[in-house]
Amino acid sequence: MKIASWMLLLFGAVLASPQKPNILIILTDDQDLHMNSMDYMPLVKVGGVMNKIPYVRYADESQKYITDEGVTLQNHYCTVAVCCPSRATLWTGHAAHNTNVTDVIPPYGGWPKVVQRGWNDNYLPVWLQKAGYNTYYTGKLWNYLHTDNYNRPPINGFNGSEILIDPWTYQYYEPHLTRNGRPPQSYSGQYSTDLIKQKALGFLEEAVSHQAPWFLTAAPIGPHAEIVVNRRDHSIDTTFPQAAQRHAHLFNDYKIPRDSSFNAKTLGAVSWIKSLQELNDTVIGYNYEFQRARLRALQAVDELVEALVQKLDDEGVLNNTYIFYTTDNGFHISQHRMVPGKSCGYETDIHIPLVVRGPGIEKSVTLDAVTSHIDIAPTILSLVGTPKQLDGKVIPLTGPTSHNFTSEHAAVEFWGYGDTEGDFATGKQLNNTYKGLRLTGQGYSLYYSVWCTNEVEYYDIKQDPGQMNNLASPASNQSDYILFNRPLSQVIPRLNALLMVLKTCKVTNLEGALDASYDQFFRSQPLVTYSACEMGYIRSAEGTSRWNVYDGTKESSVDSEWHPLHYGNDWSLFT
Ligand SMILES: *[C@@H]1O[C@H](CO)[C@@H](O)[C@H](O)[C@H]1NC(C)=O
Ligand SMILES: *[C@@H]1O[C@H](CO)[C@@H](O)[C@H](O)[C@H]1NC(C)=O
Ligand SMILES: *[C@@H]1O[C@H](CO)[C@@H](O)[C@H](O)[C@H]1NC(C)=O
Ligand SMILES: *[C@@H]1O[C@H](CO)[C@@H](O)[C@H](O)[C@H]1NC(C)=O
Ligand SMILES: *[C@@H]1O[C@H](CO)[C@@H](O)[C@H](O)[C@H]1NC(C)=O
Ligand SMILES: *[C@@H]1O[C@H](CO)[C@@H](O)[C@H](O)[C@H]1NC(C)=O
Ligand SMILES: *[C@@H]1O[C@H](CO)[C@@H](O)[C@H](O)[C@H]1NC(C)=O
Repeated sequence: MKIASWMLLLFGAVLASPQKPNILIILTDDQDLHMNSMDYMPLVKVGGVMNKIPYVRYADESQKYITDEGVTLQNHYCTVAVCCPSRATLWTGHAAHNTNVTDVIPPYGGWPKVVQRGWNDNYLPVWLQKAGYNTYYTGKLWNYLHTDNYNRPPINGFNGSEILIDPWTYQYYEPHLTRNGRPPQSYSGQYSTDLIKQKALGFLEEAVSHQAPWFLTAAPIGPHAEIVVNRRDHSIDTTFPQAAQRHAHLFNDYKIPRDSSFNAKTLGAVSWIKSLQELNDTVIGYNYEFQRARLRALQAVDELVEALVQKLDDEGVLNNTYIFYTTDNGFHISQHRMVPGKSCGYETDIHIPLVVRGPGIEKSVTLDAVTSHIDIAPTILSLVGTPKQLDGKVIPLTGPTSHNFTSEHAAVEFWGYGDTEGDFATGKQLNNTYKGLRLTGQGYSLYYSVWCTNEVEYYDIKQDPGQMNNLASPASNQSDYILFNRPLSQVIPRLNALLMVLKTCKVTNLEGALDASYDQFFRSQPLVTYSACEMGYIRSAEGTSRWNVYDGTKESSVDSEWHPLHYGNDWSLFT
């Protein structure tokens, strides 16, 4: 009797102790929002154009989705628009100027740079293990993780991992995986995304067999271009992504939406983009086919999502799992006359999908607040109850605060070159180093950037969604431009000063920042300038590292030295 009631108490306590939530991340590669690729994933997002297109199969009411079951963060941005640097910000919660992983290959980026900067020991999966999580990963993790260095040092942070290895990472029918650090195994002939699905399902099964909460990432390569590395001279060949056989016939009539930027030249375009020639019909036709191939490659990703969600449901853990669906960076094809590629600050490249479902998240809602990839790690750590001070902020996804949450800016940065892909690629486009500021709030939507050539861009995206009129250039149409009662001649220097102070603090309200009472503070700021176009983050090329910190009196200011690891703090300059 005594023992029985003691056992009952214990049993009751175990039942009552809330199990920490599980985290599943599905991370695609180079997925655009701008060309509406999400609308072609009926299992992720119901109600897109797919419902009007004959397709193999539609999602039905009984199936579990992502978008309709959760929140779409419709102003989500990557802060650096290329794979490896963006993944570094995602997994560390730090801005790229603090990770200093700024390229896909050494010396400025890739797996060796991640290791050298200590991030292999200090990133989300490691922090989650410390919080009691079992952690799993399958798919693409870092770039430049190849046959000779995949286990030097061992990849840290995972209880189980099956990670794609170069030089085959982007060959859809030639995947090679290292399982838990063992020598890479060839799966020649298998379709990469389907293989990653199988591996992810296997890890899910293992994860739910333990008591502990778990974290799993499935990172298929779709819809990234196919890349074949020539083993003799290490040259690379990029071409259409490959589809699974069952999807190869789809979308033959698809055409890229012709928005204002389609094959058009921006008034006052800068750097290498200003000299791009109009694309001829041959290239346009090729570009259409390129995007069709990307949409086909996404179908297997769509099925991967369904399989994982159904498995969670079958295991009875769906209602205690947060599912994040996102990508590393966006993509452009034909916009601004560009051949396929990324690495620009245009919306095509930085504005990306993020959809989250999970316990406490409202169904089928959208959030307007501006969020970015550096916010993901802090948000996950907060969801699992072990918050950590990082560069990013916590996105309140659950509870009443999520509706009231406002945030207006994303700080964008890039170093080095812009890569071009496909048959009409023109190699590395140099002079592609810039800092940008994306601001969206009540009544405005802006993008401001300073390039290493010291050219400046300013687009009023609310009236110019295609970013076709660079208001910072004399070549543009600036007639009577006014923002919050300020003429262009005052708006542009204010944005530059904001770009400078954003190295440490956060703007919550642009209208406030344009208030005349701050004029003196902003006039005293040094400007963001460059002295050279470097291939990586070379501080001496980026002008002053000292600037003024607002001390609360609106007039006076104190001098502050910026340190790369001086994290953005929580106080807001303008509230
Ligand atoms: C970033 O890394 C590069 C390459 O290792 C190095 O040359 C540069 O000084 C680093 N920048 C900073 C600010 O630490
Ligand atoms: C997962 O790895 C962590 C860190 O090494 C360890 O503490 C934990 O016991 C492992 N979980 C399992 C199920 O082995
Ligand atoms: C179209 O442009 C491409 C790239 O510049 C060029 O290689 C090709 O010859 C052009 N085709 C025609 C028909 O002009
Ligand atoms: C979650 O689902 C499981 C299995 O269907 C069920 O037993 C449990 O009560 C649910 N928990 C919550 C919080 O809804
Ligand atoms: C959120 O905003 C509503 C008005 O829209 C207000 O009534 C409520 O108090 C706010 N909640 C919080 C937590 O700030
Ligand atoms: C890069 O910009 C500099 C000006 O800062 C210019 O002199 C140089 O020609 C540019 N190089 C290329 C490849 O565009
Ligand atoms: C550009 O010019 C047109 C008139 O041709 C004008 O209506 C429009 O407002 C101008 N745009 C800007 C941003 O000044």
